[in-house]
Amino acid sequence: MSDKRTFFSTRLGVLAATVGSAVGLGNIWRFPYEAGTHGGGAFLLCYIFFVFLIGVPVICSEFAMGRRSRTGIPGAFQHLNKGRSGWNWIGWIGIAGAVMIISFYSVVAGWTLEYTIDSAVGMFSDHVQHNRHAEFLAFTQGWKPSLWVVVFMGINGLVLLGGVQKGIERVSNILMPLLFLILLAFCINSLLLPGAGEGLRFLFNPDFSQLTPTVILGAMGQAFFSLSLGMGCMITYASYFKDDTPLMKTSIQIATLDTLVAILSGVIIFPAVFSFGMSPAEGPTLVFEVLPNIFQQMSGGRIWSTLFFLLLAVASLTSLISVSEIAIAFFVDHLKMKRHMATLTLTLVGTILGVLCALSFGPLKNLDLFNAFDYISSNILLPLGGMSTSIFAGWVMKRSTLYAELQGKGKLPRAAGEAIVISLRWIAPACVLAVFIAGLMI
Ligand code: PHE
Repeated sequence: MSDKRTFFSTRLGVLAATVGSAVGLGNIWRFPYEAGTHGGGAFLLCYIFFVFLIGVPVICSEFAMGRRSRTGIPGAFQHLNKGRSGWNWIGWIGIAGAVMIISFYSVVAGWTLEYTIDSAVGMFSDHVQHNRHAEFLAFTQGWKPSLWVVVFMGINGLVLLGGVQKGIERVSNILMPLLFLILLAFCINSLLLPGAGEGLRFLFNPDFSQLTPTVILGAMGQAFFSLSLGMGCMITYASYFKDDTPLMKTSIQIATLDTLVAILSGVIIFPAVFSFGMSPAEGPTLVFEVLPNIFQQMSGGRIWSTLFFLLLAVASLTSLISVSEIAIAFFVDHLKMKRHMATLTLTLVGTILGVLCALSFGPLKNLDLFNAFDYISSNILLPLGGMSTSIFAGWVMKRSTLYAELQGKGKLPRAAGEAIVISLRWIAPACVLAVFIAGLMI
């Protein structure tokens, strides 16, 4: 595991790794369809509220725990609980969440590979009238997505096995800003579409009558998912931070960049949805049906779309690597496996479950593991893990330890430290609990 220590040797490396984990399919694929099915503006507002009120303090606490304990989960909880294992169960929630996320995430990541190839051969730049919904359905119901799961999990495994995180880091240093620029270009393109205003109104004009417990629960789950929180991902990564990494500043940067990418995706998708007469409540297939229509009417659509899906695949890979790392670190630290055996085991289990999720759109429709894993991990396990982590960091972990980590080599304004503790002790647990109870009552 020593190669990972060098992975985080620079300040930029920390940002590339953590933003690489946060920015992924959660922003570009999941956010638009969640917002689309949950009333647009009302969802966005709740989402931003959760990101900054709960998300930032929980990232800070995960960072502080990881750097202080210098171990992943569940070891971090034990270390910070004077060696007692009473809080280790939070780690088990994290591991369960990680396995579920890997399973369905690899399916969607696989779709991006298919779409990269389709783009390159010009399938989104012809002049034929398409029924995107039918085409996408036919693709997802077939055997190809299963094949792409195997390919994507294979690439993921190779990267983790070879320990080439340095390579990935360098690549994502270039590709992440490029993805951002491309998103900006697509935004401008979408805003010029006829009927763009309706899409923008849908996204930015909250209709408060839409604010149901389901919408609030969805927004909270999305905040945890998108920030890679509640499952020890940031704990594991922070265990490789240097002592002078400013934890609060980094947390705020991650939350801001991540939210910005989600909003940009919304600004691309919704004007196009309304302009092409589609429904925003399409569900997980939304982005894959809308984007090809945008590319088709862009000049140079073939190059744009190839580049876009390739970058989306890279963004997915950096996220999938971070989720996989949680499980691999657990196998190595806790089960004392060798790193290559741990990687192999994870790749095997992930591929099998991933294929089962891929088949959820076809032969295994009744089982529908894909949506079950997505829902259980994001809406139950991550908020539960996040709530327990914040209770742990706020009440069990010594306050002086938390402050010392948040302060690092810099200065921690008193008010900021207190605000974080208040959020960890009261606000985050109360919000998650309230949303859960409200969700159970519907
Ligand atoms: N945050 C990632 C995304 O938005 C997904 C993820 C979830 C990664 C949990 C790590 C842990 O795509």
